[in-house]
Amino acid sequence: MTSTNPRIFVALDFADETRALALCDRLDPARCGVKVGKELFVTAGPPVVRALVARGFNVFLDLKFHDIPNTVAQACAAATRLRVFMLNVHASGGRAMLEAARCGVDESAATLDCAAPLLIAVTVLTSLDAQALHELHVDESPADHALRLARLSQQCGLDGVVCSAVEASLLRSALGSEFKLVTPGIRPADSARDDQARVVTPAQAIANGADYLVIGRPITAAADPLAALVAIHGSLDASTPRGAR
Ligand code: C5P
Repeated sequence: MTSTNPRIFVALDFADETRALALCDRLDPARCGVKVGKELFVTAGPPVVRALVARGFNVFLDLKFHDIPNTVAQACAAATRLRVFMLNVHASGGRAMLEAARCGVDESAATLDCAAPLLIAVTVLTSLDAQALHELHVDESPADHALRLARLSQQCGLDGVVCSAVEASLLRSALGSEFKLVTPGIRPADSARDDQARVVTPAQAIANGADYLVIGRPITAAADPLAALVAIHGSLDASTPRGAR
């Protein structure tokens, strides 16, 4: 399946621009977007993002901004100027910061006369369990806290959240069909789990309501990354579609 709005984002978790671009030369921008996180961005900066956009990839800039509202608004505006497809902020930055992020993206896109990138919130880091939240004086469960932060993000006009594919069905029913769900922790049935504790297959993640799947090592560590990507698309096409996306 090819698309100009691919559902799979390949995580470019490299501290090496050459390696990241070499991998992308073996992928297909009609079949996947790419995720640039802190490791690659701190190593290679905006030029690697521009290089990926120039190769035709939808770029998810995964920098998880969390700062005072003005700083986050300016960072979101700068990300929009890089012509990324999607970027994210921490929902725990609060209402004023989330609203400022929305304004930063929208004003920058209006100035550039381009479509605004999807603005996504990170709710509760999956590395935080109930005990870690308790130490932060958050006494509701991680799932309840994630839902609270997702609702706040939606009220502030954000386009969606990053969440575990395990929890996607709950968020989908609570937040409606338009709110985007971006899910990492994806493993094809025959793949190693690596360090992921709870994994979901690509087809199950889509069935649970995910819009975009973030997949790293099952593709980046494969002998033939494009073949791995095509096989994942095949597993999606073989499962019941949730509707056109
Ligand atoms: O290689 P793998 O498929 O595990 O990569 C998953 C990507 O998604 C990594 O970039 C990882 O940092 C990111 N991620 C995650 N779990 C979260 C949030 C982000 O695995 N809860």
